[in-house]
Amino acid sequence: MRLLDLGAAFAWAGLVAAWAADNAHYTYEFNAVAVTGGGYITGLIAHPTEKNLMYAGTDIGSTYRWNETLNKWIPLTDFVSEADSNLLGTESVAFDPINPARLYLAQGRYLSSNNSAFFVSDDRGETFNIYPAPFPMGSNELGRNNGERLAVDPFNSDELFMGTRTAGLWRSRDRAQTWDNVTSFPNAYANTIGISFVIFDPRRNGTIYAGATAPGGMYRSTDGGVSWTPLSGQPTSWNGTLVMANVTGPQSIAPQPMKAVLSSSGVLYITYADAPGPYGVDYGAVYSYNTVTQTWRDITPNRNNSMPPPYEPQAFPNGGFCGLSVAADDSDTLVVTSLDRDPGPAIDSLYLSRDGGSSWVDVAQLSTPDRNASGGYWGHPIVEAVLDNGTAVPLAGGCLLISPWDSEKVMYGTGATIWASDEVLSASSRWSAPGWHVQAQGIEETVCLAMISPSEGAHLLSGFGDINGFMHADLDLPQPMFALPVYSNLNGLDWAGQQPAVIVRVGQNQLNNTPETGCQLGALSGDGGANWMTFGTCQPLLNSTNTDAGTIALDATGTCLVWSAASISLEGNNPMSNESGPYYSLDLGDSWNSPTGLHVQTPNITSDKVQNGTFYSYTDGVWYLSTDGGRTYVGTNGTDINLPESPGALPVVDFTHAGQVYLPLGDQGIYHTSDFGSSWTRVSQEGVWPSLLSVGAPAPGHDNPALYMWGTVSANGTTGLYRSDDNGAGWVRINDDAHQYGGPGLIQGDPRVYGRVYIGTGGRGIVRADVVASMNTTGGVVPGTGGI
Ligand SMILES: *[C@@H]1O[C@H](CO)[C@@H](O)[C@H](O)[C@H]1NC(C)=O
Ligand SMILES: *[C@@H]1O[C@H](CO)[C@@H](O)[C@H](O)[C@H]1NC(C)=O
Ligand SMILES: *[C@@H]1O[C@H](CO)[C@@H](O)[C@H](O)[C@H]1NC(C)=O
Ligand SMILES: *[C@@H]1O[C@H](CO)[C@@H](O)[C@H](O)[C@H]1NC(C)=O
Ligand SMILES: *[C@@H]1O[C@H](CO)[C@@H](O)[C@H](O)[C@H]1NC(C)=O
Ligand SMILES: *[C@@H]1O[C@H](CO)[C@@H](O)[C@H](O)[C@H]1NC(C)=O
Ligand SMILES: *[C@@H]1O[C@H](CO)[C@@H](O)[C@H](O)[C@H]1NC(C)=O
Ligand SMILES: *[C@@H]1O[C@H](CO)[C@@H](O)[C@H](O)[C@H]1NC(C)=O
Ligand SMILES: *[C@@H]1O[C@H](CO)[C@@H](O)[C@H](O)[C@H]1NC(C)=O
Ligand SMILES: *[C@@H]1O[C@H](CO)[C@@H](O)[C@H](O)[C@H]1NC(C)=O
Ligand SMILES: *[C@@H]1O[C@H](CO)[C@@H](O)[C@H](O)[C@H]1NC(C)=O
Ligand SMILES: *[C@@H]1O[C@H](CO)[C@@H](O)[C@H](O)[C@H]1NC(C)=O
Repeated sequence: MRLLDLGAAFAWAGLVAAWAADNAHYTYEFNAVAVTGGGYITGLIAHPTEKNLMYAGTDIGSTYRWNETLNKWIPLTDFVSEADSNLLGTESVAFDPINPARLYLAQGRYLSSNNSAFFVSDDRGETFNIYPAPFPMGSNELGRNNGERLAVDPFNSDELFMGTRTAGLWRSRDRAQTWDNVTSFPNAYANTIGISFVIFDPRRNGTIYAGATAPGGMYRSTDGGVSWTPLSGQPTSWNGTLVMANVTGPQSIAPQPMKAVLSSSGVLYITYADAPGPYGVDYGAVYSYNTVTQTWRDITPNRNNSMPPPYEPQAFPNGGFCGLSVAADDSDTLVVTSLDRDPGPAIDSLYLSRDGGSSWVDVAQLSTPDRNASGGYWGHPIVEAVLDNGTAVPLAGGCLLISPWDSEKVMYGTGATIWASDEVLSASSRWSAPGWHVQAQGIEETVCLAMISPSEGAHLLSGFGDINGFMHADLDLPQPMFALPVYSNLNGLDWAGQQPAVIVRVGQNQLNNTPETGCQLGALSGDGGANWMTFGTCQPLLNSTNTDAGTIALDATGTCLVWSAASISLEGNNPMSNESGPYYSLDLGDSWNSPTGLHVQTPNITSDKVQNGTFYSYTDGVWYLSTDGGRTYVGTNGTDINLPESPGALPVVDFTHAGQVYLPLGDQGIYHTSDFGSSWTRVSQEGVWPSLLSVGAPAPGHDNPALYMWGTVSANGTTGLYRSDDNGAGWVRINDDAHQYGGPGLIQGDPRVYGRVYIGTGGRGIVRADVVASMNTTGGVVPGTGGI
C-alpha cells in the first residue's frame, strides 16, 4: 500500500537536487489539451441543498467538481502519483447531505490491485485526507455504471456505509478512516459486482436500503444496519411481456438491481438489467416500491409504449435500464435510460415519466426523427455535437441527473461525454425535441497512446485509446477527430522532419482490408493531418484482427516508411514475429518489404529528422542503423560502442541535427551520440533515471535541444517531470506533487516552444506544461485547472 503524503501533495514541494546554474527555474502552469470528455462517466451527483454543487465520477479519470462560474468541471485528484495510479478511478462519490463541504471518494480502478483508498474532504475536494481501504475497488470493472455504493448517514454525519464488490457490506463510524464488516448482510453474491448501492432513508432514522447486482438483490435494514432482510414483493422473475420469444432470453433468472433513487415522497425507484453492464446487457426493467404502502409496481417502459406517435416497436431485446433520476420537487417526475439496447448504443433511449412511471415519453425518439439514418446520438449526428455556445465537440456517446434546482435540466453521462438539456420537461410536453448540448468541458478522460509535435503546422497531433486521434490546431478548443480511416485505438504517429506537413498514423480497427479499400490500419497525410490517404496494403503481420497496429516511423523526406507490428513481437506468440524486422515501404504504403540486418518487430524504432532514409533502433542490446530507407540495417553490439548492457530503448532524436540521438536507459542514465551511434557518452549524472525522455526547442542561447524526462534525478529521489537545458548535465523539476496525473504514459517536447512539454496520461488526457512567461524567474508552480 502506498499512500500520498498529504502535506507534500498541496504544499509547493520545492525544487529538487541536481540543479545546475544553466537550468533556469521557471514558474509552470498545467492546462488540459481540450478533447472534452472521452471516457466513461460513472456517476453524476448533485448536492440536495447547495445550489450548483455537482460532481462527476469517472472510471479511470477520477472525480470532477462543477464550477458554475467558470462553466466547467474541475479535476480534483491530479496529485495522484504514478505509484498510486490505481487510485485515479472513482468507485463511488458521496457527500454529506447535512454538511455540503464534506466529500467522500472511494478510489480504486481494479480489483486485482491491493491499492484502494478513501479520499475524504472538508472543503468540497480542494484538499483530501486519504485513508487506505480494507477491501479492493474496481471503478473500471464491470458494473461501473451502477451505484452509488458509498453513502453518508443523514442522521449521523460521521457514519458511512459502503457496498463492496467482493467483501460484503461495510460500515465506518469515523468518516471513512476505519471500517467494519457488516457480517449480518447476507453473503449471497459470488460475483465481482457485489452490493452496488446503499441508500439511507432521510425521513426514518435507521432505515437503509442496499442493492446487490443479483436476482432478488434488494435489501432493507430498519435498525441502523444491524440486521438486513430482502425486500418482500421484489421481482423474482422476469415479466414475460418483456421477453422476446424468438431471440435469446435474459441472462439472469430475475432482474438485477442497477441503481435506485428514493423520492421525496418515499417512493423507491429501481432500474434493473440482466447483466451488470456497461456492455453485454440484453434485458431490463424498472420498478417502483412505495416505502410507505410497501407496494411494488412494474413501471418498465416497454415495447408497447405508444408515445410519441408514431412509435415503432422494436424487433430485438430492449436492453437493460440503468440511468435514473427523480425530480426533487415532484416525486412523480423521473427519467431513466436504457442500456445496450441493440443494435448499438446509438439508439439507447431516455424515457421521461410525469406520473410515477405509469406512462413514459421516449425522449430520444422525439429527438431522433432520422434515427435510422444518422447513427448519431440524441438526434444529433456526431458531427453536430456542440457545447452550449455552439462550439463543436467531436465526441458523443449512463448515468442521469435531473437538476435538484431546476427540473427542466437533465444531464446524461455516457461512455464518452455528458449531454445536457435545459428543456426536457417543457419540450417533451409539447412532443417536440429538446435541444441537447455537451456539458463535459473540463473533463478530460482519455488514454493517450501517441503524440507528435512537428516543427510546422499544428503543435500537437495525438492518438488515443477508443477515440482515434486529433490534429490539435487549437490546444484550448475541442477539435474534429481525424477523418477516415477511424481507429478505435490510434497506436502510432510520426512526421517527416524536413517535410513537416507529411504525417503518418497507424491504428486498430476491424474494417476489412481489401485491394479496393486498401489498408484501413495506416494512413498518410500531406497537409499536416487534415486529409488522409490510406495505405495501399498493410504491413504483412497486421490486419483487422490485431488489437494493436504497432508503431510507424517516417523518414526526414516523408518518402520512406518503416512499420513495426510491435505488439506481435512483444506478445511473442506469433511464429512470424522474429522472421522479419519492421517492414519498410518506399512507395508510401503500396507495398511492404522485409529488411535485412534486423530480425525482430521491435517497437523501438525512430527516424532521423534531418537526414533522409535514416532509421535507428536499439533492441536486445544491439544498436541498429539504416541509411537506405529501412532496407538494410547494420547492427553493432552496444558494449562495443560504450553502451551499457541493456535490453533496448526507444531512440529519441534531436530534430535539428542529423545523427544526434539520445537513449533513455532507466537506472543506467541517458546516453547520447552525435555520430549516428558510432560512439556514445553518458550525459547524465549518477541517479538520473529516466523512464520517459523527449526533446524540445532549445533554451535561449543553447544549441542542444531542451531535454524532458519523467523519472528521478537523484538515487531513489522524487519521481517527477524534469527539464535539462544543458544536454542532461543538470535538471530542474517542472511539475510539483499536485500535478502528477497518476504518471504519464508518454511525454513530448515542443520543437517550437521552449519550455513546453505535453504529458500523455492514462486517464486524464493530454496536459501541457508551459512556462508562465510573466513569472518566468520566480520559481514555483501555478496550479492549472484544465483547459475547457
Ligand atoms: C469557481 O472558480 C472560481 C475561479 O477559480 C472560484 O473563485 C470559485 O470559488 C469557484 N466556485 C466554486 C463553487 O468552486
Ligand atoms: C438515530 O438513531 C440512533 C440509533 O437509534 C440514535 O442513537 C440517534 O440518536 C438517532 N439520531 C437522530 C438524529 O435521531
Ligand atoms: C464480510 O462479511 C461477509 C458476510 O456478510 C463475509 O462473507 C465476508 O467474507 C466478510 N469479508 C471480510 C473481508 O471479512
Ligand atoms: C408486465 O408488464 C406488462 C406490460 O408493461 C404490465 O402490464 C404488467 O402489469 C406486468 N406484470 C406484472 C406482474 O408486473
Ligand atoms: C423476432 O420477431 C419479430 C416479430 O415477429 C420480428 O420482427 C423480428 O425480426 C424477429 N427477430 C429475429 C432476430 O428474428
Ligand atoms: C465556447 O465555450 C468554450 C468553453 O467555455 C470557450 O472556450 C469558447 O471560447 C467559447 N466559444 C465562443 C464562440 O464563445
Ligand atoms: C491476420 O494476421 C494473422 C497473423 O498476424 C493471421 O494469423 C490471420 O490469419 C490474419 N487474418 C486475416 C483475416 O487476414
Ligand atoms: C537521400 O538523398 C540523396 C540525395 O538526394 C539520394 O541520393 C539518396 O538516394 C536518398 N536516400 C534515400 C534512402 O532516399
Ligand atoms: C524497447 O524499449 C523498452 C524500453 O523503452 C524496453 O523495455 C524493451 O525491452 C525494448 N524492446 C526491444 C524489443 O528491444
Ligand atoms: C555483446 O558483447 C558482449 C561481450 O562480448 C556479449 O557478452 C554479448 O552477448 C553481446 N551481445 C549481443 C547482443 O551480441
Ligand atoms: C535506493 O534504494 C534501494 C532499495 O531500497 C537501496 O538498496 C539503495 O541503497 C538506495 N540507493 C541510494 C543511493 O540511496
Ligand atoms: C523569461 O523572461 C526573460 C525576460 O523577462 C525573457 O528574455 C525570456 O525569454 C523569458 N523566458 C521564457 C522561457 O519565457
